[in-house]
Amino acid sequence: MRALIAGNWKMNGLRAAAAGIAAPLRAPAETLGCDLLVCPPATLVAAVARALAGSRVAVGAQDCDAAPCGAHTGDISAAMLRDTGAVWVILGHSERRADHGETDALVRAKAETAIAAGLTAIVCVGETEAERLACRETAVVGAQLAGSLPDGFAGVIAYEPIWAIGTGRIPTEADIAAMHGFIRAELVARFGEAGRGLRILYGGSVKPGNAAALLHLPDVGGALVGGASLRAEDFLAIARCARG
Ligand code: PGA
Repeated sequence: MRALIAGNWKMNGLRAAAAGIAAPLRAPAETLGCDLLVCPPATLVAAVARALAGSRVAVGAQDCDAAPCGAHTGDISAAMLRDTGAVWVILGHSERRADHGETDALVRAKAETAIAAGLTAIVCVGETEAERLACRETAVVGAQLAGSLPDGFAGVIAYEPIWAIGTGRIPTEADIAAMHGFIRAELVARFGEAGRGLRILYGGSVKPGNAAALLHLPDVGGALVGGASLRAEDFLAIARCARG
């Protein structure tokens, strides 16, 4: 299974970012042993897709609406994102769960709509620090998986401990391996053999300096990178640590 290194730009980037952050990925991506994906804000999906057209770097969005179309002022549908050049979408990121009250049921509905529109979904799960301190991390992540993944899910899972996002703190390698093993077991229990082939990304303070160790842990099939994906050089340095 090739690793997937996905960049989540979050609410960062103006038009110049298509040339400044995305375009420099084109040539190096040709020789990488992993898959590369960038998820700019919705306003930049078209420009980034143009900057990366014909390259080996895929483009995704950071969210979509659960409804396929209709009276939802300000929202963006999966079909619109597909139409502007996105082929992936991140769903249920902890910042959306926290800032917009997104529930597991809503994330599942979004995933169903996204898949129907031809997007591949990256569904995010992860515990808070309080939940980990209370030894509830597997219960929390297990419930998020059960509630957020549609039947027959064929996308990607991202495990992102909320307390590791943007903080520079990461779980121990043993804790990451244990959680990814737990997620794998849950996927196999629900989806059978197909669950063995699903990629599980780790996300939360992935940097060039810690990527090699993280990406070689069992059941870590890549990384979801926030802050470090805003510099092409750092993002590529992380990607070079991935197994082919
Ligand atoms: P970070 O963000 O790499 O800046 O910690 C990761 C994420 O939220 O996907």
